Amino acid sequence: MTTGDPSADRLLVQGGRSVRGVVRVPGDKSVSHRALLLAALAEGTSVVHGLSTGQDVAHTRAAMAAMGVRFDGEQITGGDLHEPGQVIDVGNSGTGIRLLAGWCAARPWLTILQGDASIARRPMDRVVEPLTRMGAAIDGRVGGRFPPLVVRGGQLRGIDYELPVASAQVKGAVLLAGVGADGETIVRERAPSRVHTEELLALAGADIEVMPDPDQGGRVVRVRRSRLTPFTLDVPCDPSQAAFWIVAACIAPDSDVTLERVYVGPARAAFLAVLQRMGADIEVTDRGVNTADIRARTSALRATSVGGEEVPGLIDEIPVLAVAAAVAEGTTTFRDAGELRVKESDRVTTTVAMLHALGVSAEPRPDGLAVRGGGAGSLRGGQVDSHGDHRIAMSAAIAALGATGETAIDGWGAVATSYPGFEEELQRCAS
Ligand code: S3P
Repeated sequence: MTTGDPSADRLLVQGGRSVRGVVRVPGDKSVSHRALLLAALAEGTSVVHGLSTGQDVAHTRAAMAAMGVRFDGEQITGGDLHEPGQVIDVGNSGTGIRLLAGWCAARPWLTILQGDASIARRPMDRVVEPLTRMGAAIDGRVGGRFPPLVVRGGQLRGIDYELPVASAQVKGAVLLAGVGADGETIVRERAPSRVHTEELLALAGADIEVMPDPDQGGRVVRVRRSRLTPFTLDVPCDPSQAAFWIVAACIAPDSDVTLERVYVGPARAAFLAVLQRMGADIEVTDRGVNTADIRARTSALRATSVGGEEVPGLIDEIPVLAVAAAVAEGTTTFRDAGELRVKESDRVTTTVAMLHALGVSAEPRPDGLAVRGGGAGSLRGGQVDSHGDHRIAMSAAIAALGATGETAIDGWGAVATSYPGFEEELQRCAS
């Protein structure tokens, strides 16, 4: 039995369970934020089906409503925008605040963006710096480094910008500003990051071009000021949420799970390749452009090394990949992943703490972690703190299924930021 106790903000999970069935995870969170922001800019009504059901996306939707966007079921009517009459609350969403900073920078008004205690610790200079260069006036705490952010938007000018960190949020913020700026905006990235802003700008009719970068071996994105047109979109399912079930199927005994309609486009599905080189029994069946059904079954896993250019494409999956590593044979290392330290929690520290609580030997590294796998059946139940981080909470729940005894996860409420139905799905699929 799995029993949640909402008043105690705690989930109890009994171990030694198998996971079986067909699972449809929520619509992709990254796509959902961008679909809202772009439907808002298009003059007319867009139709968007299957948005993420999490609180993060609900905050971006409320932000759009506060600036004049009208919602009617799946219809989103944009174009007739105005200055918000209140401070915009992004909740726990780093993607929300950074994309909104870019979006608001090109609007001729003042926007104040704030979020929860975790957001107040997330670095914002990475978007403040390029947006200031484009002509926006943006400030925040500690010299513009942390939220709240105060954005005085207006007519911007395009820039030629090389991303100092591999970040789709920063790329997205600059492109969202760039589509309203004078001239041409160029973003150069060395390590490929997720391409949802580019894909959706193209869908909304923007003048955008993506090319390989002959000098750096990365990619160059160019956007010019464009009038956006309404679009129709069926949001694919979120691979970062699918990853929890795929690892669950791999590590829990006698398990077999199929995930439907998962987005597997650029820089999102790199975790599948990692699991496959660990020996995971995974089958991927194409279901259209950049979407696939994924079937995973109980597997004997072996250690691997994760690092370099694959990291931006699996950064959100490292906590749950670390759970897979915990039951693999040998030591798995995660390198070049210093960005983990500035996510919803310091995920180097919180992932290592979660593993320790479940009897796993793991050590933090400045840019990642090392996990000493104990082989199948080596996890034991314990008490885990999510530290308010949805991905730590869900990774711990998956580890707990494959553990002996009972696991208590404190701070379970954080899961609602991205996947409110996760616990019900766990009840349904685990036996
Ligand atoms: C996201 C980009 C990534 C990722 C986050 C979602 C996005 O962050 O970790 O969960 O939707 O652009 P960074 O851009 O900071 O790498």
